[in-house]
Order: sequence, then C-alpha cells, then structure tokens
Amino acid sequence: MTTKNDNWQRETDAEGIVWLTVDQAGGSANTLNHELLEELDEILGELEAQRPTGLVIQSAKKDFIVGADIKEFTRIETMEEARKLIRRGQGVVNRLENLRCPTMALINGYCLGGGLELALGCDYRIADDDQSTRLGLPEVRLGIHPGFGGVARLPRLVGATAAMDMMLTGRSLSARAAKKIGLVDHAVPRRHLRRAARELIKTQPPRQRAGLLSTLGDNALLRPLLARVLRNKVAAKARPEHYPAPYAVIDIWREFGTDKPAVLEAEERSVARLIIGDTARNLVRVFFLQERLKSLGDKKAFAPQRVHVIGGGVMGGDIAAWCALRGLQVSVQDRSDEHLARVMKRAAKLFKKKLRQPRLIQQALDRLMPDRRGQGLARADVVIEAIFENVEAKQNLYREIEPRMKPGALLATNTSSIPLQVLGEALSDPNRLVGLHFFNPVAKMQLVEIVTTADTHAEAATQAAAFTRHIDRLPLPVDSSPGFLVNRVLMPYLLEAVTMEAEGLAPKVIDAEALKFGMPMGPILLADTVGLDICLSVAEILSKELGVEVPGRLRELVKAGRLGKKSGHGFYRYDKQGKPLGAKPGRGEYCPPDTQDRLIARLLNEALACLREGVVNGADLLDAGIIFGTGFAPFRGGPMHYIEQSGRAGLMAKLTELEKKYGERFRADESLLPLEERGE
Ligand code: NAI
Repeated sequence: MTTKNDNWQRETDAEGIVWLTVDQAGGSANTLNHELLEELDEILGELEAQRPTGLVIQSAKKDFIVGADIKEFTRIETMEEARKLIRRGQGVVNRLENLRCPTMALINGYCLGGGLELALGCDYRIADDDQSTRLGLPEVRLGIHPGFGGVARLPRLVGATAAMDMMLTGRSLSARAAKKIGLVDHAVPRRHLRRAARELIKTQPPRQRAGLLSTLGDNALLRPLLARVLRNKVAAKARPEHYPAPYAVIDIWREFGTDKPAVLEAEERSVARLIIGDTARNLVRVFFLQERLKSLGDKKAFAPQRVHVIGGGVMGGDIAAWCALRGLQVSVQDRSDEHLARVMKRAAKLFKKKLRQPRLIQQALDRLMPDRRGQGLARADVVIEAIFENVEAKQNLYREIEPRMKPGALLATNTSSIPLQVLGEALSDPNRLVGLHFFNPVAKMQLVEIVTTADTHAEAATQAAAFTRHIDRLPLPVDSSPGFLVNRVLMPYLLEAVTMEAEGLAPKVIDAEALKFGMPMGPILLADTVGLDICLSVAEILSKELGVEVPGRLRELVKAGRLGKKSGHGFYRYDKQGKPLGAKPGRGEYCPPDTQDRLIARLLNEALACLREGVVNGADLLDAGIIFGTGFAPFRGGPMHYIEQSGRAGLMAKLTELEKKYGERFRADESLLPLEERGE
C-alpha cells in the first residue's frame, strides 16, 4: 500500500515494514523545513496507531537530508519565535524516538544538521558506503549549534570526544568513518542497503551505544576537565566574542552531560539566543553570498573537458593539479623539466590528501600530463596562462599560441596586476582574453576573480564563470582595473602593517591586532606567506596607477633577499617546516591604541573606493569577494556590511583623525562625504 503526502511517500511491504521516503516537492535537495516536519509529525501520529513491524526512513534524492532550511532562519526575529521552532523540531524527533517499533535511517549522500539529528532519533542507521555519503553537524559554521537533539544524543551514541569533535568543527564524516565511531551501524554498498535494513529490523540487535572507553569523558567529575581542554582547543581557532556557538556546546555538555531532558532544554535556549545574534546572522549572510557567487556561473553554458595550463610555477602548477582533481583532463606546460617534476610531486600530495583511496589518486594523476612541448594546447577547451608576471613574456607567448588554439577555446590569464587591455595588444582577437585570477594557495582559496573589460566577448566571460563552477570554485566578475578587487582592497591594509613595522612595532603585535578584529591571519604573516616580492610588485602597480605609497621597508627587504616564507626569512624567520618563529604575542607588549584602526580603516576605505568606481557589481558582491578572497572576518558579514552596521559616520570620524595624524593615505573616500561635498 502506498500513501503520498507532498513531501513523504509511505509504502508498507509484505512484512509490515513501512518505507518512508522523503522527496521534497519542488527542490533538488531535501531540507528539513517547516512543512516537512509537520507532515512527518502527522505520519508518525498515524504510525503510533498502526504499529508496523518497523519503520525505515530513506530519501528519493541523491542526498538524505542536507540540513535545516536556512531561509527559514532569516525570518526569525525574536527569541520566542526561535524557541518555538526548535521545540517543534525536537518534538518530532522525540516522537520518532518513542515510536514503539524498530526505526531506522537509510542514509545516502549528505546527511547533515537537522537531517542527521533526525537519523539520531532512529534506533538504527545504515549508510551507503559510497564516496558521496557525508554525515555531519555543520551548524557551528552558521554560528549556531545542533538544536533538534544533536547535543543530547550524539555523545551518548559515539562518546563525548568524537561527538564534540564533530559538533565543534562542523566536520563531516564518510560512511566508513561514521561506522568506525559507531555513528552508523553499518556502511554497505548501495545495492545491499534495503536488504541490510530489513535484516536489522527483523533481528533487532542491541542498539549502538558509546563504548566504555569513549564514555569515560562523560563522567561528571571528568567533564569539567575535558571541557577545559576543549575550550582551549577551540580558542586556538576562534574567539568566544566572535564565535560563541562552539563554546555554548561545551558549556551545555559540561553542565548537563547526557541528561537528555536537561540538554534538550539547554539546546533550545542556547540556539534561540545564538540564532538572533550578530554572528549567526552574518554567517547566514555569508552562506547566501556564497550561493550568489555560485549562481554567477552556469555550468550548462560550457562543458570544458580539456585544460592546458602554461607555466608550472606556484600558481600554474597548483591550478593544473586542482583542475585534474576536479575531473578535467589537464596538460601543464613549462620550459623547465624540473618545474614540471615539482608540479607532479605537489599534485600527488594534494590528491593523496583529498582522495585518500589509491585507485582515485592514480586516476587523478593519469588526468594530469606534464607537457614540455605544449602538445595539449591545440586540443584544449580552456587555456590558462600562468607564466612570470612580465608583459613582454606574456605577449610573446600569446602571439605564439593564438593561431594554434582550437576555435572557440577560452584563453585566460592568471595575471595579478597587468591590465587585460595591455596583454590583449598581442592578440588578433583581444576581446577573447579573460582573467581567471586564482589566489594562493589554490586548493584553499575558493574565489576566482573573472576579469573582463567593457569589450570582452560576453561568451568568453560566461565560459570563464562556467569553467570556475566546473572546478568547484566561486566566480566573481571584476573589472580589469589595477589590482582588480581583492588585491586592491588588501594591499593598503598590508602596506599599513609594513609601515607600522618600520615605525618600530613588533610584527607579532601588529598581527595580534588583526586577529583580534577577526582576520584569519595577521597582515605581516600574510605578506610573508604571499611573498614580499609579489607584494612589492602589486604595490608598485597600485602606486603607479592609484598613488598608493610603497613603504621603503618593503623594497629594502626584497633587495636583501628576504622574500618571506619561501626564502625562510621575511619579517619573521621560518623553521624548516615553514612555521614562523616568535610570532606568538606575549603579555604586556606595547601596542599603540590606534593600531587596529589604522589597519582596518585603510581596508574599508579602499573597499568604498572600489564600490564607487564600479570595480565590482554592488556591495554584496564586494563583501563576497573580500570574504572568500582574503578570509576577511566572516562573522562581520563583509567590509561593506560592517561599515553599514557600525555606521558610516564612525568610519568617517576615524579616517579624519588618522589623516590628521598620519597623512593623506587616510583621506576618506568621496562616497563617505556628505553629498554636497563630493567632487562630482
Ligand atoms: P612562478 O615564477 O612561480 O612561475 C612561473 C612559471 O612559468 C615558471 O615555472 C616558469 O618556468 C614558467 N614559464 C615562464 N615563461 C614560460 C613560457 N614562455 N612557457 C612556459 N613556461 C614558462 O610564478 P607564479 O607565482 O606562479 O605566478 C604566475 C602568474 O600568476 C603571474 O602572472 C602572477 O602574477 C600570477 N599570480 C600569482 C600569485 C601568487 O601568489 N604567486 C597569486 C595570483 C596570481
């Protein structure tokens, strides 16, 4: 017998087992939204009366349930509304848990957040052991924590240590890893899923519980101790004033352990408080900004298969490896065999880390061809140039390759500073050239600036954005103006840090101020990591075009061969593993009170200038670019959002004061001035 609601389909088999299939109407993924929960609640009510042999919850889509419906978060305005919603979710999961027949979640694809919490309400869980299966509680990434019973149930099931690791980091697990910690009862190949489910329902083995060893941490006497260790671990990555959610999870667990009713109550209170707070609101904003960037590239518009990268240096090599990792056929060309060997070595390391299984690693390596003579060029759908940052070298190369490229292939440059107009002079069709500006390190930085001029062929821009999505990066269209968006906004901030260092402030003190603001890395360490020679060359271009001052100190260091991390010495010295020495600030070090303001005000001011000049299309995209291109404090929602939240007048006042003290580089951007004072 089959019964169908809008989102759930129910079928009872000959053995009396109810197969409840979630297939959300009108979407490609199942999200645990209000309607889905209400319908489920109704169905559970009917099953209470019906008493089936067992209940199996499964999905008709490629994922189980990907989490809560984040759009619903944005509609919550008060704490009371939030509590009501959470209570409702908890109520449904409790009802499922109390059903008087064996229950099971049959998991495929993503089973995240509320989806996993629902599965935790079942007696058993079986996962498809395919690579695509991921189980996790990523709520902290949105500034909240599990609220539908995850904090209460997960530690009981897998022990506090494993549970805390999942909840505090938001990391998701493969089916096999989930089996290892006891999160699922079995991980089996897809074709065996139904049989395995039936078997468990029939035999009803004892339910999974954390082993003795893993429950040791749950002991009321040990909990405060372990909680302190966890707090320190979290503190190394996120400050409580910036990211309160992981600390809240630890506090709840320390206080209530596995006392389920008390934890459920605390979850409700805590998530309600967090969800209406600034951090969660801004992280939800960042989530939607990411979706917006994704939507800027339409994969269907272009289906590249072969990529040819010219220049196997730091960037070209890593771009080539990344493309191969994402399934494309890649040839990488360089003049030096040694560089090509290095590309393959780095690629192997990346594949090992990301793919783990030897078969998959080998397949990725097979997709990446070192190509000294450039034989892959003529067959490539996308050609990416990443040779030295030198106009003549690039132009010579273009003259040579343009006639050999496949008609309709995309030609892209990874230049960080040379205007496309200049590079295009060497081409017979300059308007087919686009910039695909990747960031270093390629495997970590999600953003790719899609650089175009007013004359660029629309098709080339569309292809570039589509290609970026095919390799799972985020495209941001920007204008081909000096420094594009990200480097232009970042550079004044880095240069201000260099100036302060030259004034005598210790690098670690400057870096600590940026971390306090919420940057993932201090500006001095960032400059060292990017390479001081590269910083200098971008700074010089900006200085020529925009009058940005280049601190003499930067030139001095580059001249002395102190290039940063890559040369073992820049502002910091580096050990053999590439770790900076003496970068941890100690107590009582002197720090002038305007240090943080000097850094951040310059960054914000430059962001305003870029927006005014139309380097990027609107404030939201600017925020997205700076967050995904530089790591700018995500909990602040982006520079423009931060300016609006903290008030334009405040920034104006700060800049005026700093200009008086330090000079013209702090002159407020025109867009901050009252209308009548603007030079328009
Ligand atoms: P790199 O100096 O590490 O690599 C350049 C590579 O190109 C070398 O392996 C060299 O042998 C090869 N090469 C030079 N001329 C060639 C030719 N005619 N044919 C074939 N191979 C040739 O440089 P890096 O840092 O990888 O930069 C490459 C490009 O990427 C530059 O345009 C740079 O502005 C840009 N970029 C660099 C970033 C960085 O952080 N290093 C970030 C974003 C863009």
